[in-house]
Amino acid sequence: MTKKINSKLTKLAKYYSLINYNLIYDSNAINRYKKDGFKLTGNKTEQLQKLKNSIKNIKNCNLKKSATNLVFSDGNSSSKIMLIGEGPGANEDKEGLPFVGRAGQLLDKMLLSIKLDRKSVYITNVVNYRPPENRKPTDKEIARYLPFLTKHIEIINPKILVLLGSTALNTIIGNEVVISKARGKWVEKKIGNCSTHVIASFHPAFLMRQPDQKKMSWIDLKMVRQKIKELKIKIEK
Ligand code: URA
Repeated sequence: MTKKINSKLTKLAKYYSLINYNLIYDSNAINRYKKDGFKLTGNKTEQLQKLKNSIKNIKNCNLKKSATNLVFSDGNSSSKIMLIGEGPGANEDKEGLPFVGRAGQLLDKMLLSIKLDRKSVYITNVVNYRPPENRKPTDKEIARYLPFLTKHIEIINPKILVLLGSTALNTIIGNEVVISKARGKWVEKKIGNCSTHVIASFHPAFLMRQPDQKKMSWIDLKMVRQKIKELKIKIEK
C-alpha cells in the first residue's frame, strides 16, 4: 500500500516538474519590472558600461542581427530627467546615438523650449537596436529588452521620466492605456528600485506627421518644466 502511494507521489512530482508546477501555482502578483535577474556593481559609469556590454552580448536577437550599431544612450548620466523613445531609426543605427535624425532635431527644439538640452537630460529607447524598416518593436522584442531598460532606469535613477510615444508608454505603464488619453498626466511609479514621476507625451516623429498636436505637446513640456521647479531639480549644464 505504502509502496503504491510512494510511486504515485513520485509520478505526481515528475508530472508537476514537467508542467512547471511553480509557474502555475505561484499566487504572487507578477511584477513586470523584476525579471532582470542580473545585478550590476560599481559606480554609475561602470554600471552603465556593464549594462551596455550585456546588451552587446545579447544572443539570438534578430534586431541585433539586422542592425549596424547598438544605440545605448545620449546625454548626461547624472541628470535627474530621463527620456525614453521607441527605438533607433536609420540615422541612429548609423551613428550609434539616439534621436539624431529629423525626430531628434525636433526633440532638441522641444527641449530647448523648456530650457533643456542634451547636456541636461539623459535619453534612451525601449529597444537598443533598430527594428528593420522603422517598424515598431514587437511585444516579444519589447519583453526581451525590458530587463535592460529597467536596469537602465535603476542606474540613472531619474526623478522625472518622460515617455515619448505609445511604445514607451505601453512598456512602462501598461498596454491598457492609449497615448492620446494618458499624455499630460503625472503618475508616481516604482520601476525596479527607482521611484519616479512619470509623464507621457507625443513622440516627435508623430508630431512631425500631426503638427496640430504640437499644442498638446507644449502643455506637457510646460508640465515637465513645472515639475522640475517643484522638485527643485538642478539643471546640469
Ligand atoms: N525615434 C525613437 O524613438 N528613438 C530614436 O532614437 C530615434 C527616433
